[in-house]
Amino acid sequence: MVFSSSSFTLLTLFIVISTVCARPQSYAIWAADSGIQRQQGNGLGGDGNPDVSYEHGEFQWGLRQLYERTGEEKYFEYIKNGVDNIVFGNGTVHGNYRLSDFSLDPVRTGPSFLYLLGKTGERKYQIAADIFKSQLDSHPRTAQGQFWHKLRYPNQGWLDGIYMGDIFYADYTKRFQPDNATAWDDIAKQFTLMYQNALQNATAPNNLHLLYHGYDFSHQKVWASPDRGHSPEVWDRALGWFSMALVDILETFPQDHPGYQSILSILQDIVPHIRDAADPSTGVWWLVMTQPGRERNYFESSGGAMFVYSMLKSLRLGFVKDTKDGSIARAAKKAYGYMTENWVVEKQDGTMDWLNTVIVGSLDQTGDFDYYVSQGLRVNDLKGLAAFLLASLEIERL
Ligand SMILES: *[C@@H]1O[C@H](CO)[C@@H](O)[C@H](O)[C@H]1NC(C)=O
Ligand SMILES: *[C@@H]1O[C@H](CO)[C@@H](O)[C@H](O)[C@H]1NC(C)=O
Ligand SMILES: *[C@@H]1O[C@H](CO)[C@@H](O)[C@H](O)[C@H]1NC(C)=O
Repeated sequence: MVFSSSSFTLLTLFIVISTVCARPQSYAIWAADSGIQRQQGNGLGGDGNPDVSYEHGEFQWGLRQLYERTGEEKYFEYIKNGVDNIVFGNGTVHGNYRLSDFSLDPVRTGPSFLYLLGKTGERKYQIAADIFKSQLDSHPRTAQGQFWHKLRYPNQGWLDGIYMGDIFYADYTKRFQPDNATAWDDIAKQFTLMYQNALQNATAPNNLHLLYHGYDFSHQKVWASPDRGHSPEVWDRALGWFSMALVDILETFPQDHPGYQSILSILQDIVPHIRDAADPSTGVWWLVMTQPGRERNYFESSGGAMFVYSMLKSLRLGFVKDTKDGSIARAAKKAYGYMTENWVVEKQDGTMDWLNTVIVGSLDQTGDFDYYVSQGLRVNDLKGLAAFLLASLEIERL
C-alpha cells in the first residue's frame, strides 16, 4: 500500500491532534477541568477580588459530585480554595456580599459552606452559613410569604431565586433543625407560591403549561400582567433554575413532611411539559420558550443543559416515571447529543469551550421578548458550563 502525500499529511495531522488534545473520555471531567484550568468559579471575580457568586455555587455543586465519583482530591481542593476566597478565617463572608441587600443570589454559595463544614468540621464554615441563615430569617417577603428576589425588587418572586435561596435553606434546616416543621413548611411554600403565581393558565397566549420568569405581587412593575402580576415570557434559564431546584431539594426534603408531596407534584407536572417544549428537530429549547421560531429567538445552551440534568435526575431518583416508550429519557439524550455536537468545541490546548450561553436575563427592565433576545452571549459563561457539567454527570450515570 502506498501513502499519497495528502493522506500522509492527514494521518500526521490526526496523530498530532489526538496527542495535543487528549481530551478525557468523560464530558463531565472535561467540562470541570476546562473550567478549573481557566480559574472559573474560584471565588474571585474578573478583577481578582472576592466574589460571592451563585454561579460559583452552581459549579461547586457539580465539582462535589465529581469528587464523590472520582475521589480526585483536586476537585475538593478547588471547592475549598474557592470558598476560602470568600469566607474569612473568622467566618465572616466577604467580597461583595452585603446582608442588607437581601439578595437571594449570593446564598447559592451557602451549600458549599455546609459541605465543607461536613468534610472538615471547621467552625468558620458554620459561622458563614449562620450569616446566610440570618439573612433568610429577616428577608423581606410578599404578603403571601414569598421571599423577595432582592430588596431592590420589592414584592417580586423570580424562579431564579428558588434555586439561589432554597437549596441552602433546606440544607441548613436538615443539618441543624431537622425537626423544625415551620422551616420545612416555609421552604415548600416558596415552591408552591411560585408555581401558583407564575404558572401559565390554559387560556394564556402561547400556553406551554410552564412558568413565567417571575411575578410582582404588588403589580407595580411595567411587565406585571393584570391578572396575577406575572412577567410576559417563559425564559429558558429561569425555568432551568427552577427545575434544578425541584430535583435538588427533593433529595434533602423529609419525605414524611407534607411539603415533600407538594414539591414532587410540581416536578411531575412540569417535566413532561419541558419535554414537549423542545424544538422537534434539534431537541433543544428556545431562549424565549413562549416564542418558538420567532425572528431573533435562538437555541440557548444554559437552560437546555439545566433541563437535561433535571429530567435525567428526576428519572434516576424515581421522582418522575417515564412514559412506556421512554420519551423523557429520549428527549434528554437527544438534547444532550445536540449540545455536544454544536456547543462543545475542542481547543488546541486540550480544554473545551462551551458556546451559546446568554449572559443575563433579568426582570429589572421590560421583561419582554425584545429584552431577552437583545442580551449578549458569552463563550464559557459559567452558568452554562456548570449546567453542562451537571447534565454530563447525569448522562454518565445512565
Ligand atoms: C473577620 O475578619 C476580617 C478580616 O480580618 C475583619 O475585617 C472582620 O471585621 C472580622 N469580623 C469579625 C466579626 O470579627
Ligand atoms: C424554625 O424555623 C423557622 C423558619 O425558618 C425559624 O424562624 C425558627 O427560628 C426555627 N426554630 C428553631 C427552634 O430553630
Ligand atoms: C390567563 O392568563 C392570561 C394572560 O396572563 C390572562 O389575560 C387571563 O386573564 C388569565 N385567565 C384566567 C382565567 O386567569
